[in-house]
Amino acid sequence: MKQKKLTSDFAVAGGEATFSEILPVGQLYFPSWERYEAAMRDIFERKYYTNHGPLLERLEARLEEFFGVKHAICVTNATVGLIMVAKALFRDGKIMVPGFTFVGTAQAVSIAGLDPVFCDVDASTHHLTPETLDAAYENEVRAILGVNLWGGAVDFEALDLYARSKGIPIFYDSAHGLGSRIAGKPLGGFGLAEVFSFHATKVLGSTEGGCICTNDNDLAALLRNMRCGYGMGRIVEVPVTTNGRMSEAQAAIALMSLDDLEEHMARNRALASGYEDALRDIPGLSICTPTGVDVTNRQYFVCEIDEREMGMSRNELAEVLKAENIYARRYFFPGVHRSVPYAERYPQYVESLPTTDALCGRLIQLPIGALVTDEDVRVIGDVIRGAVRHVEGLRKHLA
Ligand SMILES: Cc1ncc(COP(=O)(O)O)c(C=O)c1O
Repeated sequence: MKQKKLTSDFAVAGGEATFSEILPVGQLYFPSWERYEAAMRDIFERKYYTNHGPLLERLEARLEEFFGVKHAICVTNATVGLIMVAKALFRDGKIMVPGFTFVGTAQAVSIAGLDPVFCDVDASTHHLTPETLDAAYENEVRAILGVNLWGGAVDFEALDLYARSKGIPIFYDSAHGLGSRIAGKPLGGFGLAEVFSFHATKVLGSTEGGCICTNDNDLAALLRNMRCGYGMGRIVEVPVTTNGRMSEAQAAIALMSLDDLEEHMARNRALASGYEDALRDIPGLSICTPTGVDVTNRQYFVCEIDEREMGMSRNELAEVLKAENIYARRYFFPGVHRSVPYAERYPQYVESLPTTDALCGRLIQLPIGALVTDEDVRVIGDVIRGAVRHVEGLRKHLA
């Protein structure tokens, strides 16, 4: 890989891209073809492809043990899981959600027929706090949907206390949190329920997939009956049913990913530590270490860019990296409160989340996961360092 010594060596200025193929932003840990083929052959020989099959049962039992919860209910993706929990709890009303999250968190609230109340987050942890909740609290609020980001977590105790003080339940979008632990306790057992994503970009991937964890027997019975039209377990009356089933193929991949989870989390942490060396002392760049947990799955590698100190904006840096085939992401951008359809439907929140707006303009996520090598991390560090040095020359090539 040719070192970028001149401005013209950068791909935005007409030079050769650092990577010949796109380096995507995250995870994509999958079992070897041999293991995958054997697992699929097993399903085909059994001819049991979906509808709560033996692999799904095995997966749920293993996840219950892994999370230390009474119920792990697997679903086709985390969004469906969040919709199901919201719908199981309420027919109408408002749910507090952070504006700084993936749009799916708020979409789940909307699809469940509820209204989001967008809250700001803390500037250093990126999470909800009792203070940011209180600043946004409205009388019609029925619940809080907290979000655990980047392999870190909210302060569960503080948020639980706040929710109790208002007499409302709290549940969590923990799409980023599988495998992270607090004082030895894995995420999964906090709040009324936690929902995890097994999307390909997550540390435990099953292409698509997810899981709802809860210790509440009644909620679990509702969810098992809502998951599809003909339900499972104890029969209870439900507000609505959906199709959130996880197939046997998804369950087979999730089981293999669960076997490999510790290895993948360790690999993420090793890559993150490589980035810490590669990015050291770059002016205006600070690394956002996941907060609130003792062990992190390090599923994301997020940096904050101070434009004044770096001499380059986050957007400019993202553009330079993209031209080099380094698909760093502006995650989350824009804030959900400013995105379609929320900005139009709930204009009262558009200008109400200053910290969220600032984070949306400053954070960048660098590639981490199965397709990233130690050498890639070193090279990405060099490219960023070089871009900062050549910023004046590069600027005229940027949008
Ligand atoms: C915070 C957050 N919540 C929810 C989701 C949705 O997960 P899924 O794709 O499994 O529906 C994602 C996906 O990236 C996410 O990042």
